[in-house]
Amino acid sequence: MSTEPRTVPSAITAAATEQRITAEVIDRIAPSTDPRLRRIVTSLITHLHGFVRDVELTESEWFAAIQFLTRTGQKCSDERQEFILLSDVLGISMLVDAVNHRQPSGATETTVFGPFYTGEQPLLPHGASILKRPEPAPTLRVSGHVRAADGKPLAGALVEVWQVDANGLYDVQDAAIPKGHLRASFRTREDGGFAFLTIAPVTYAIPTDGPVGELLRGLGRHAMRPAHIHFMISAPGYERLVTHIFVAGDKYLQGDAVFGVKNSLVAAFDRDHVEFDFGLKPLAA
Ligand SMILES: [Fe+2]
Repeated sequence: MSTEPRTVPSAITAAATEQRITAEVIDRIAPSTDPRLRRIVTSLITHLHGFVRDVELTESEWFAAIQFLTRTGQKCSDERQEFILLSDVLGISMLVDAVNHRQPSGATETTVFGPFYTGEQPLLPHGASILKRPEPAPTLRVSGHVRAADGKPLAGALVEVWQVDANGLYDVQDAAIPKGHLRASFRTREDGGFAFLTIAPVTYAIPTDGPVGELLRGLGRHAMRPAHIHFMISAPGYERLVTHIFVAGDKYLQGDAVFGVKNSLVAAFDRDHVEFDFGLKPLAA
């Protein structure tokens, strides 16, 4: 018998690879693999390979994508999260939110976490100001109640807030702003009430000096977000609520760069006061 290796014409090999490679990669997953990881990776490979076939990705486009993701990682630091921003502008953050939070009635709707949370801040007393420096903007009082979805007041809930400065930048984006400015934590009172003093939130642009900015410019998209205050509310026995309240009438409510607006989160801000009540969803038993 001949010992010569079988040779296959290269055109057939390439065609065969294109046909077979997806199944081959998936088959390589070990039988002992965690079932959830298997499901996620199998679906990811299937969709990514399908995407390459669909657009017939060129080698230079593939390399441009590698460079883009590399720059996205390099832009990240303790105070800058370019991957969250990328997820946000591609609508992935809001899609993850949507499939995870099908809220019962009485529970406040969720929205994007965003890239600007900097960890839990010191607790302030009820009604305190969250400013760390004087601002020329008028004072705004924010108040409301935290309740269970069934209406029961939740005492002692942790209410974390963060907000952009009047210049459209967060403290971590501007060295002139004291760290912790317009960020704070509060505990709700016996009746579930909370209150603090701040300044009116403003419309602002997400950072465009990195890869996400390149992407937005390439797609002819603006970077604006409608004015909002971030809230994260936690209480034992309830799902943590990550949300915003948006300012009614903002011209970017219809075109938020990160797709975060939900009608139920739009609040009527008076000149010096806004009131908003939150409902928390009980943890699944
Ligand atoms: Fe924000």
